[in-house]
Amino acid sequence: MTALLVTGGAGFIGSNFVHHVIEHTEHHVTVLDSLTYAGNLASLAGLPESRVSFVHGDITNAPLVDSLVAETDAVIHYAAESHNDNSLDNPRPFLDTNIIGTYTLLEAVRRHETRYHHISTDEVYGDLELDDPERFTESTPYNPSSPYSSTKAGSDLLVRAWARSFGVRATISNCSNNYGPYQHVEKFIPRQITNVLDGVRPKLYGAGLNVRDWIHAEDHSSAVLSILERGSIGETYLIGADGEKSNLDVVRLILRLTGNPEDDFEHVTDRPGHDLRYAIDSTKLRTELGWSPSFGDFETGIAHTIDWYRNNRSWWSPAKAATESFYAARGH
Ligand code: NAD
Ligand code: DAU
Repeated sequence: MTALLVTGGAGFIGSNFVHHVIEHTEHHVTVLDSLTYAGNLASLAGLPESRVSFVHGDITNAPLVDSLVAETDAVIHYAAESHNDNSLDNPRPFLDTNIIGTYTLLEAVRRHETRYHHISTDEVYGDLELDDPERFTESTPYNPSSPYSSTKAGSDLLVRAWARSFGVRATISNCSNNYGPYQHVEKFIPRQITNVLDGVRPKLYGAGLNVRDWIHAEDHSSAVLSILERGSIGETYLIGADGEKSNLDVVRLILRLTGNPEDDFEHVTDRPGHDLRYAIDSTKLRTELGWSPSFGDFETGIAHTIDWYRNNRSWWSPAKAATESFYAARGH
């Protein structure tokens, strides 16, 4: 059995990964999470106590991080400030967690010679035109747009430097937009699903023509596990499931699947600097590691996700009012 340290394991994608590891491996998982507004212990409910431990702490706390890494075979680093709109409102926590937090982990894995996997985003590559035939690959130059994506890009570059200069045994993955259970209601898909469940019209930024490349969080987890088990040290892998959709199409789908007229949404103030389109070419991951997604059908994945939010109101409703007042104050 291997001891894994999962940072940010009480967040959306981290908690999905912990569930995936417990179901598909024999590993023991220690979650390190500071439980910001985005962390929720309820996302880890029901997991066996013999296989999952929780440590409430901050990834910028160097002595704590060092003591945990000393007992760990591999670190999978999910913890981050993750929301673009928050980064436009108050960038500082993004620098602390995404840059200093990653630096703190890298120094610990360097000292203890621990395997490290870094979770990152396709947003480090900037955006594409709607009609661009190219998609992002591992060699696309970095060109981030927002405080969030620039701090993620900075953290990726720290990992590359620590791998090259200090021999840290690191891999990096850059994934496209995730959806699925346990996603905070500030994000696009859960915000619209829970709006509809509350009888409120979905809100589209601008014209709604921006395109995101959607992947179910379960498929992100299986890809990360493949990289951890079979990835080559020092390599970067792009994770995506060929799920390009405009925001307008996603809102229409949610309305249709919930039995509402497809035009029953409203346009709201656009996001400053709003990236137009993301698209991932995941050929390297598929051909070198033999990974493929299991949620090939976006409509089925969204239908499952709607059911999850319908059946788990107690998980999301405590955060809904504060999230909506944040948006209302900014015209979103
Ligand atoms: P999230 O906001 O849902 O969860 C982040 C978690 O990190 C929370 O549990 C929070 O409490 C914890 N955290 C934040 N700051 C911390 C700190 N200083 N110390 C310890 N814990 C801290 O985020 P998410 O959407 O699950 O994203 C997880 C990772 O995946 C991030 O690195 C993000 O950049 C990356 N990513 C996200 C997406 C996406 O679509 N959401 C896509 C690609 C990559
Ligand atoms: O591409 C990966 C990234 O995807 C991750 O790195 C980020 O952590 C994650 O938050 C996500 O970033 P986005 O900015 O793409 O996600 P968000 O859910 O905030 O918005 C998705 C799209 O929907 C985007 O074009 C903005 C739009 N939007 C968002 C909200 C909240 C709306 O039209 N209406 C909304 O109410």
